[in-house]
This record gives sequence, C-alpha cells and structure tokens, in this order.
Amino acid sequence: MYTLDIDTERPYRVLIGTLLLEQCGEIVREASGGSRALIVTDTNVGALYAAPVRRSLEEAGYETSVHVFEAGEEHKRAETYLAILEDAARHEMTRGDVIVALGGGVVGDVAGFAAATYMRGCHFVQVPTSLLAMVDSSVGGKTAIDLACGKNLVGAFWQPDVVIADVGCLATLEPDQFIDGCGEVVKHAVIADEELFCELEKTPLTRELLLADLSRVAYLIARNIDIKRAVVSADEREAGVRKLLNFGHSIGHAVEACSDFRLGHGACVAIGMVAMATACVRTGLCEPSVRDRIRALAAAHGLPTSCDFTADELYAAALHDKKRSGDAIDLVLPEGIGTCRIANVPLLEFKQLIALGIETEGSVEA
Ligand code: GLY
Repeated sequence: MYTLDIDTERPYRVLIGTLLLEQCGEIVREASGGSRALIVTDTNVGALYAAPVRRSLEEAGYETSVHVFEAGEEHKRAETYLAILEDAARHEMTRGDVIVALGGGVVGDVAGFAAATYMRGCHFVQVPTSLLAMVDSSVGGKTAIDLACGKNLVGAFWQPDVVIADVGCLATLEPDQFIDGCGEVVKHAVIADEELFCELEKTPLTRELLLADLSRVAYLIARNIDIKRAVVSADEREAGVRKLLNFGHSIGHAVEACSDFRLGHGACVAIGMVAMATACVRTGLCEPSVRDRIRALAAAHGLPTSCDFTADELYAAALHDKKRSGDAIDLVLPEGIGTCRIANVPLLEFKQLIALGIETEGSVEA
C-alpha cells in the first residue's frame, strides 16, 4: 500500500492499494470519528460497492445510510446537492458525523460540496472508484456543482479527512471511463514530471496493463497523486502554482460544454492540451516536438486529440470559465515536457490562441 500525506491547513492522508474497501470502516473511524456515516454514491457505483463499504463502516461501529443518485455529469447540480443535505438532516447527522463519497469525480464533487456546507461543514471522506477521481479530483479539496451556464461554478474548498483509493475498483470501469482518467495522467506528466512522461511513453497506462500488472498501476497512480500532493501542499487555494493543474482545461472545459458533456472530462483535457501546445508551437513558445510528444502520448492512451468545434464556438463556451477574470484569463503554456508556465492572457489573445490551436495543418503552417 502507498501512503501519501497532503500538507494542507487540515493535513490528511491518501491511501492507495487493494482490498481497501473492506477495511474502510476502521480507516474512517480513525480519520473522522463520529457515529453516523452517510454514504453518497451513484446508481452505477452503488450497485457494485455500496454493500462492502456499508458493511465495513457498520463493523467499525457506524450507523449508516446510503444516498444514491442517478449517474452522470448532468446530475452534478443543485437538486442532487439539496437532496443529499435533506437526507443528512433526515438521518439526524451532526457536524461530527461523516459523509463518505463513494464513486467518481461527480460523486466526489457534489458530496464534498454537501459536506462543506452541511451545518457549515461536517467530516468528509473520499473513496474514489474511477481513475480520474483517484489521480485528480479526490485529492486537493475542490468541491462543486454545475450551473446551466457552466461547470463547477458553485463550490468550496473542503479537504477530506482521508482518501481511500482501492485500485481493485478500476477493474469494473467501462473502457471509455478508464481512458478518460488517463487525460489527467498525461497532464500531470507534462506539467511536472518528464521522467514519468518517458515511463508512460514506454508503457502507457492502459486497461491491458491493469489486467496484467495491478501493482504497476498502483505505483503509477501513487506517482500521479504525488505530483498533485506537491502542488496542493504548496498552494491549497490556487493563488499561484496550483493553476498549473489547469493545463488543457480552458479549451478542455469549452470542448466539454460544446459537446453537451457527451465527451468525458479527461478526453476534453487531452484535446485542450494538444490545442494549447499547438498554439504555443505556432507562436514560437515551444518546440514542435513538445506538441508532437503530448499528442502521441494522449493517442497512445486512446484519448482524442482534436475536435470539430469552431474557434468561435469554443471561445463563447470558454467565457464562462472560472479562470477568467475581467478581460483576461490564466492559461498554462507548455514550454517543454515537465515544464509549463502560467500566463495571464487578454481574452482577444486567448481567442487567437484557440484558433491557432485547433486549425488544421493545412490552414496554418505548424
Ligand atoms: N483538478 C485541478 C485541481 O484540483 O486543482
């Protein structure tokens, strides 16, 4: 098992290993205490894993209840959040009790926002079951729901008491969901770790690897969380260096919105990374080889690297991005593999970069 300590205002641990669901009750008891646990999950994950998690929590002495909502990004919204709060109140939860998020990024975000606001904040544990949630969204304390105008527009920073990542859960992920998580894996390597990038070039993180070598997958997940750990420990509230984690996200979120969320988040981040790298090549900010390697690594993981939306469509969607402030937006520009920098760019320039990033080789010289 890997154990990583996240050094935020309220420090906590991330555990990565196998057979952790069956032991989660004792882990939660030690990290959170309390007497009641509300397990929040969705219809897909609940059917598979709510029973063992509930059993373990009850064996550890918790009174438990399970709140299940319909799976899908379209349910990361106010009604779902309010229903969790109503359920917590109906079960007479106090702020000393614990909400356990069991699922992928949507479950973690909405359950975390409920925990951040129920009685002005109750205990919270993340049990990520998707690759994306394990390597990214369960760590770092970002919680949120979506509004009709855009993703994650309402939320709070609320760190969990512990994150329990049981890599055995990845075996039941749909192939597309597994691939989707790889978008954030490639991103971590580009922003911070050339060595990891080279390792992934040699052996990509695929479902085949998952079936052949679970301990290698656990190691790669721990490497990814270690990158996120360093960034979040240095800048919990995203005042500076944490913005690096948004590489590929400004265009990526726009692609997600333009696709009506039919494309997964990690897939959109991959498209966004390649577009931003292409724009950087075309403005002389990085070598073509940097873009080519990012594009090849994304493709080796089965991720898409381009989209059919126009620059105008993407720009209109990107205006709802939280990273915008006034007439400018913070962008992450790749200078090399493992080296990116943050730049505050006027919106007009951002629009030009989107156009340069998505236009095909024939229309603009690379
Ligand atoms: N997913 C980006 C962050 O946690 O900051």
